[in-house]
Amino acid sequence: MPIFWNEEQKEFHLTNGIVSYIMALLPDSSPGFIYFGRALDPSRSYAYLQYLEGRGASTQPEGMPAEYCLDFTCREYPSAFRGDFRTAAIGARAKDGKPLALDLCYRDHRILDTKPEIPGQPSCYTESNGEAETLLIQLKDEYSGLEVDLYYTIYSAAPVLCRHTCIRNRGPDTLVLERAMSSVLDLDDDEWDFIQFSGSWARERHEYRSRLRPGSQAVSSSRGMSSHQHNPAVLLARPDATETAGEVYAAVLIYSGNFEIGADVGSHGHCRLYSGINPESFSWELKSGAEFYTPESVTAYSSQGFEQISLTFHRLFRERLARGYWRDRERPVLLNNWEATYFDFDEAKLLAIASESKALGVELFVLDDGWFGKRNDDTSSLGDWFVNTKKLPDGIDGLARKIEALGLRFGLWIEPEMVNPDSRLFEQHPDWAVGPLGNKRTLARNQYVLDLSRQEIVDYLFKTISSLLGSAPVSYVKWDMNRNLTEPVSACLPPERQGEFFHRYILGFYELYRRLTEAFPKILFESCASGGGRFDGATLAFAPQAWTSDNTDAVERLAIQWGSSYMYPLSSTGAHVSDVPNHQVGRITPLWTRAFVAYFGAFGYELDPLKLSIEDREAIKRQIVFYKKWRAVFQFGNFYRLKGGLQDNEYAWMTVSADKQKAVVLRVQILSRPNSRSSRLRLRGLDADQDYQVQVLPSVQLKDDASIRLNSGSRTGAELMHAGLICGGDGWASAGRGDFASWLFTLEADNES
Ligand code: DGJ
Repeated sequence: MPIFWNEEQKEFHLTNGIVSYIMALLPDSSPGFIYFGRALDPSRSYAYLQYLEGRGASTQPEGMPAEYCLDFTCREYPSAFRGDFRTAAIGARAKDGKPLALDLCYRDHRILDTKPEIPGQPSCYTESNGEAETLLIQLKDEYSGLEVDLYYTIYSAAPVLCRHTCIRNRGPDTLVLERAMSSVLDLDDDEWDFIQFSGSWARERHEYRSRLRPGSQAVSSSRGMSSHQHNPAVLLARPDATETAGEVYAAVLIYSGNFEIGADVGSHGHCRLYSGINPESFSWELKSGAEFYTPESVTAYSSQGFEQISLTFHRLFRERLARGYWRDRERPVLLNNWEATYFDFDEAKLLAIASESKALGVELFVLDDGWFGKRNDDTSSLGDWFVNTKKLPDGIDGLARKIEALGLRFGLWIEPEMVNPDSRLFEQHPDWAVGPLGNKRTLARNQYVLDLSRQEIVDYLFKTISSLLGSAPVSYVKWDMNRNLTEPVSACLPPERQGEFFHRYILGFYELYRRLTEAFPKILFESCASGGGRFDGATLAFAPQAWTSDNTDAVERLAIQWGSSYMYPLSSTGAHVSDVPNHQVGRITPLWTRAFVAYFGAFGYELDPLKLSIEDREAIKRQIVFYKKWRAVFQFGNFYRLKGGLQDNEYAWMTVSADKQKAVVLRVQILSRPNSRSSRLRLRGLDADQDYQVQVLPSVQLKDDASIRLNSGSRTGAELMHAGLICGGDGWASAGRGDFASWLFTLEADNES
């Protein structure tokens, strides 16, 4: 049993033999944090670690010993207004605005042999008994009648803890929640680096690392979506932590809306890592008897660097967050027409592209934006989900059947959450758009957002989109979302409850996604928000893959895929080969480098195959044959980052099959450097005793390539991991290679020798 309760010490110990999470009740009966780290013996007590120390100029709850300073102790769910001046987990007021100094005391606890779902919100799950146990700690503030249930799930085989909270009003009066965090982790010291995944459109999830300093440092979104700007994930790592060594904590929020994850370093050098809904744009009315559930936060621990954190999240998200028919299935090689045609297409053009794609080996043809209403650019028709018969005279059904007759599956782009002012839908329902504040709404990409906090709009969209998807053989849907939310006002909420809008929008978004994915269980959904603006765990629970970024340049993608890989598995990472000069940055990269980078994900093309040279056409055929052969390793293998980072001239990473029989390694050299020295690339995750046949594919063929000459042949796993591959080292011979050269190394277990 992984959850223990020591009645005498009032101590909880959750452990699975990999990690231990230990708490004990503080003198006022509120739960205090003791330890989260490598597993400790659960038969012993660690309550002594929760020592009390008097501090000058500090606060104590009435009737408590002078040593019990609220601002100094490590707590599990600290409330606002009570003398713990660090970031609070919960803050509430009476309806008349009076602050409530919640005194949340332990009442009871239960140990569940399952992982409960969070009503209306996606979360990690279990598939069989014994996979996880959950501790439910029940707290109550006697004065207001507010109850707080803290849920902690520990999986039997992963160093993670899944947490969420249910807040219930058992008092007679209506209360207003102003903050309701999902998790708090009060670490004992502040010797940590803060690692965030930030950027903007077309440069999402770049990794930034900085030293913690006193005060609060946080990433957040107030855009109505998890955002391009900051991913809902933060790592705290020891300053010397590397991929394979050093302590790392992670807090990843399973939420698609406004969030905040921060580290608050208090005056005594403790560090509070917290995560939850962004309190800035949030309030929630809790009538007597009502309850509120926070999103799930997944907290992970590694004593062996970032690699363990990533492997843990990849497995958990791939196998126990993503769900449905496509979860474990190999994803098709697709061709999307967006960068091939943009809005300028008709049926003949699409069929010509599709037919050529088929000849190249593509399996799924995806029709992107521009097939509906009178849409020929981005100024009109969102909301009018009926086909433009001028472009597609036989409708979506007719086109889809013709595509299927070519031997391809058919996929379709939609953007259900949006409406253009120039659309029939807006003409009929101008009040369905979010806002306005005053008399104006803000436009972005010429569009407004439909108010998904309203049930009738969610119902309407379900009906409209499900009849569209039911009308044709659609095998794949790209669900796009191309603007941030502004003027957060819902016509159906009274003025004093408008603070509920953002979260209600997200609940409506989840409901729509859930109903559509349940109604069409075999359709492969790929999420998208102007690229990777909503690449988060919650959306992943519905759509097992996401369009990682609108930036398809191979070099730009290195930093984007590198950052994404800390949390999100390769099977969730949509990655396509596009044309050159690249449409986002104008860069010209070798066709094979573009493929090598895109291979590490759900692979496809985003170009016009009719415009290819004969040479490129043949190369793409070979690329697809190669990907299909190695697809399972690329999509479901264990992923290791080897070299890279924003300032580096070189990136390298690899993926290894679960049975360690196959692996693929990528090395990209960004700029060509004269006379540069060779280096070693030490591999990871292999079977040390296994012999592997190493083959090398270069992005550019040279007469004599040292990487091929020196690395091809039989090597043991130990050799490859401890001595490594030899990279570079061909002196002036590399001049013909130029910038953005890359090499793909394949490793196959050599069981004959
Ligand atoms: C933004 C997406 O990220 C693109 O891939 C494309 O689908 C466009 N929207 C279409 O408008």
